Amino acid sequence: MERAVLFVCLGNICRSPAAEAILRERLLAAGAAGKVRVESAGTAGYHTGKEADGRMRHAAQRRGYAITSRARQLEPRDLQVYDRIIAMDRSNYADIQRYAEGSAAHVKMLSEYLDRGDGWPRDVPDPYYGDGEGFEYVLDMLEAAMPKILAELDQLD
Ligand code: 4NP
Repeated sequence: MERAVLFVCLGNICRSPAAEAILRERLLAAGAAGKVRVESAGTAGYHTGKEADGRMRHAAQRRGYAITSRARQLEPRDLQVYDRIIAMDRSNYADIQRYAEGSAAHVKMLSEYLDRGDGWPRDVPDPYYGDGEGFEYVLDMLEAAMPKILAELDQLD
């Protein structure tokens, strides 16, 4: 059965579109592209319909990931549609949980898929107002989380 994963950040133009592109690429490499639907959304709607930030698209492209998504805002019904909803930071997480009645167990933080001993922070830092290094750091963090995300998706099958 097809599984569905939604990555969520604030604007849906930097962090979550990058996560979406990286997981798609990993699934393709694993021969499992058809098994998992991967999408992203933002808790805010101010970039709806726009391409991802050019700085993130280019940084991702240099690592072999094509970010092609257009921004969309998270909707309450998304809570019913996806098997996993993965928030980039605590603020996104709290906003997503507000859509849920009570606490939705299938909503996770990206950092739950990282080894804390490796020194990663709990929040994927918002790179929008920073310099180019911020985009590379986000990509490093997202790449580091992929093995556990893939392992979890495998277990859902
Ligand atoms: P994202 O980054 O949440 O990773 O897409 C942001 C993009 C835009 C804004 C904030 C964060 N903004 O304020 O416009």
